Amino acid sequence: MIKKIPILDLKKQIAPIRKDLNRAIKDVIDNTAFIAGRQVECFEQEVSKYCNVKYAVGVSNGTDAIKLALIASGVKSGDGVICPAFTYYATAGAIASAGAIPVFADIYPDTYNISSLSIEEVLRRKKKLRIKAVVPVHLYGQCADMDNILEVARRYKLKVVEDTAQAFGAEYKGKKAGTIGDCGAVSFFPGKNLGAFGDAGMVLTSSKIIDEKLRILRNQGNKTKYHHLVVGYNHRLDTIQAAVLNVKLKYLDSWNKRRQGNARYFNQQLKGLEIQTPFVPKYTTHIYHQYVLRLNGPSKELVEHLINKGIDSRVYYPLPLHLQECFRYLGYKKGDFPESERAAEQTLAIPVYPDLTKRQMDYIISSIKEFLQ
Ligand SMILES: Cc1ncc(COP(=O)(O)O)c(C=O)c1O
Repeated sequence: MIKKIPILDLKKQIAPIRKDLNRAIKDVIDNTAFIAGRQVECFEQEVSKYCNVKYAVGVSNGTDAIKLALIASGVKSGDGVICPAFTYYATAGAIASAGAIPVFADIYPDTYNISSLSIEEVLRRKKKLRIKAVVPVHLYGQCADMDNILEVARRYKLKVVEDTAQAFGAEYKGKKAGTIGDCGAVSFFPGKNLGAFGDAGMVLTSSKIIDEKLRILRNQGNKTKYHHLVVGYNHRLDTIQAAVLNVKLKYLDSWNKRRQGNARYFNQQLKGLEIQTPFVPKYTTHIYHQYVLRLNGPSKELVEHLINKGIDSRVYYPLPLHLQECFRYLGYKKGDFPESERAAEQTLAIPVYPDLTKRQMDYIISSIKEFLQ
């Protein structure tokens, strides 16, 4: 009998590196520099090297990373900011908490990432709004169509903040996700491919001015202690999280490779069936934060079937953002973003984490086949 297969098994990931993690955490406790300890700066330097980007600013989580990136890029209260209707809530939540107005655009049906055609259509339609920025999301672990997005952004003078919460380590035409636009916002939520032991995030940028603004904004508007230049926030990355992430970063590429291997196996074994495996365009790599399948009709019954078989399958995300209660004030209705609505209905994610065994994958595959027959 196969035991339950979770959507992610962090215990298996942590076990082989437990000693190093314990030592790193003990070091922080011994030094008691819980805020702004040397591990924060060290992790920022390691990320900046890993991503080949000039500046990396540690912050409290991915949501705050998006918010701070927007504010530091010059987005002001009442400005419009475009993002996809099909993403996790936090993308639009961060826009709203920066005081801006989320403006939704639709996605491409094959990659589930924001469509540059839809962005342009929104810009033409919403001429009265001061639209200042766009937040493409690299959903599930592969990059959005950045060249076309940057081209539209250039024409309309928009800032580009990449939501890299799910794609840290993926590459767009050889460049790391999050280093292509004005800023990249990263999440190190525990379930991400590189996850902390709590909340953590980072903003990537090649602009010295934005880097300086971010460092002030994340630390109560301080440049020197008790002298507040702007109304800032308590959005710092804490030292214990940085220490944990410093240990785990070394393993990220090998973990991502194993996810890619698992995805390849699923692709091969599900080929020719009435189910669509992930489409990866040539311009991007995919680090499979999620491995998402699509049916011709609703995915709900397959999700239920897999759960009954002990396989933790999920829908990311079942209700697009334009139909969420909290964004009702924006005035959208059902039918506004058909591709987002269809994706929400027809997709499902299955486990793809690095430590998944062949036996577990075969069981997932045979359970899917059983449903399709
Ligand atoms: C697409 C996307 N954006 C933003 C976030 C927010 O990140 P965090 O949970 O670290 O605030 C997440 C993750 O939860 C996400 O998946």
